[in-house]
Amino acid sequence: MEPALGTWEAIDTLRTVRAFADRPLEGWALERILNAGRRAGSSKNLQRWAFIVCRDRDHLRELSTTGPWAGHLAGAAVAVALVSPDPRAEGAPLSIAFDLGRAAQNMVLAAWELGIGSAPATIYEHQRAGDLLGIPPEMHFEYLLSFGYPAEPAVLSAPNRAGGRRPLAELVHEERW
Ligand SMILES: Cc1cc2nc3c(=O)[nH]c(=O)nc-3n(C[C@H](O)[C@H](O)[C@H](O)COP(=O)(O)O)c2cc1C
Repeated sequence: MEPALGTWEAIDTLRTVRAFADRPLEGWALERILNAGRRAGSSKNLQRWAFIVCRDRDHLRELSTTGPWAGHLAGAAVAVALVSPDPRAEGAPLSIAFDLGRAAQNMVLAAWELGIGSAPATIYEHQRAGDLLGIPPEMHFEYLLSFGYPAEPAVLSAPNRAGGRRPLAELVHEERW
């Protein structure tokens, strides 16, 4: 039975989860997460993205060593590498990165609705991580997302930390900066 979580509730309660239970994701749940990425809107609907799904524990452990804050990958049920053409290549539109961010957030929220936590991992050792994932040289990747049921389920309903986000008054401008 899927837990029901409204859109706002999901957005407002979402937090990063870095410790995962030793429990695999159901096939349909993983498919839901991947579909959430696929359904994201992209500039000109070009959908310049690909997702690499990693579930093998040894593979995840190796990937977890390719960034200083990527350790959570080792315990994830699934990691998804976000792959695109290089947004820094000459003439490449910056919208590639914007599009990929939208796809990633769709995945993260769809997972959260199902009680599945996630965390981004920034890759620092691009060559080694790219080799581990067999990414073709013309493609680019910067982030993996860890997914899994939280080791501590209370995280799903814990109240937001005070001061965890800047107040609207600091961010919002009316009409002009
Ligand atoms: C572009 C980006 C890269 C991130 N890279 C990492 C990372 O390498 N490792 C990690 O544990 N968290 C990473 N994070 C997660 C942030 O630390 C997290 O979004 C932030 O601390 C807010 O956490 P909260 O949503 O739990 O409040 C990354 C987030 C973003 C948006």
